[in-house]
Amino acid sequence: MTATTLPTPSDLSITPRDRRFGRETHLTRLWHGGSVEATAIYNALSATFPIGEAYFVESVRAFREGAPAKLAEEIKAFTTQEAIHSREHHAFNKRAERSGYDLSKLEQRVSERLSITKDRPPIVNVAATMALEHFTAILAHQLLANPKHLEGADQETAELWRWHACEEIEHKGVAYDTWLYATRHWPRFKRWKVKAKVMLLVTRNFLVDRTAGSLELMRQDGVTGLSAWTRLLWYLWIRPAMFRKIAGAWLSYFLPGFHPWKEDDRHLLAAYDKTAKVQPNTKRKVRHAA
Ligand SMILES: [Fe+2]
Ligand SMILES: [Fe+2]
Repeated sequence: MTATTLPTPSDLSITPRDRRFGRETHLTRLWHGGSVEATAIYNALSATFPIGEAYFVESVRAFREGAPAKLAEEIKAFTTQEAIHSREHHAFNKRAERSGYDLSKLEQRVSERLSITKDRPPIVNVAATMALEHFTAILAHQLLANPKHLEGADQETAELWRWHACEEIEHKGVAYDTWLYATRHWPRFKRWKVKAKVMLLVTRNFLVDRTAGSLELMRQDGVTGLSAWTRLLWYLWIRPAMFRKIAGAWLSYFLPGFHPWKEDDRHLLAAYDKTAKVQPNTKRKVRHAA
């Protein structure tokens, strides 16, 4: 596949929805239906976003210069969306801290992981971003497709997650297309090998770190040991089984000719935009203050 035959839909428009969540309301500590494990996994994910998404932006933006006009435009929209996500998750994390959690260990772990990539060539950062963006896109698809995942959650917070999920789907091809463009002169097998190796590494770190982060937050709620492990693993793999349900989509990443838009899930975006309070608007000014 070359950069000129990308399956990203030609009429796809990546349009930031500049929304703000929960600034005026107090966050109940166990906001996810009173469940320690459900609250823990979503809080653990949210703790990683401000640092992680800043890294995605830097990694992809390094290839904007000289990129074809459409891709450069998409990179710009991608960075705007991710910047707003960081702002909203930063605000959410502060609220979670005010409700009693200490997220500092989790944030420190993300910083440590990302510091390893500092001295690597920029293309390695794009490969890691593309792998993590696939993760977020398939998690986002599952979150929007299956209402069970946010059942019982605080409404405003559920809305934050749905909004983020929607935009993750919308820009899911950007890091991938950046990679295809940046490696357009590489032999096919080398491309696949690097992509697959980085995905395996990223997956191991993602599973280990998010599990450890969730267990740390559950410990802060007084749930430890075998009970914590059982409850968390049940939630992630048995019911509602977010991780089990994304396993097939995760595997598709390794297939020859894979592209995130081979699964066209824009119907989920349309359904979201129909019910959301703020419609996508490219002319909207992005407010950065938290
Ligand atoms: Fe995001
Ligand atoms: Fe993203």
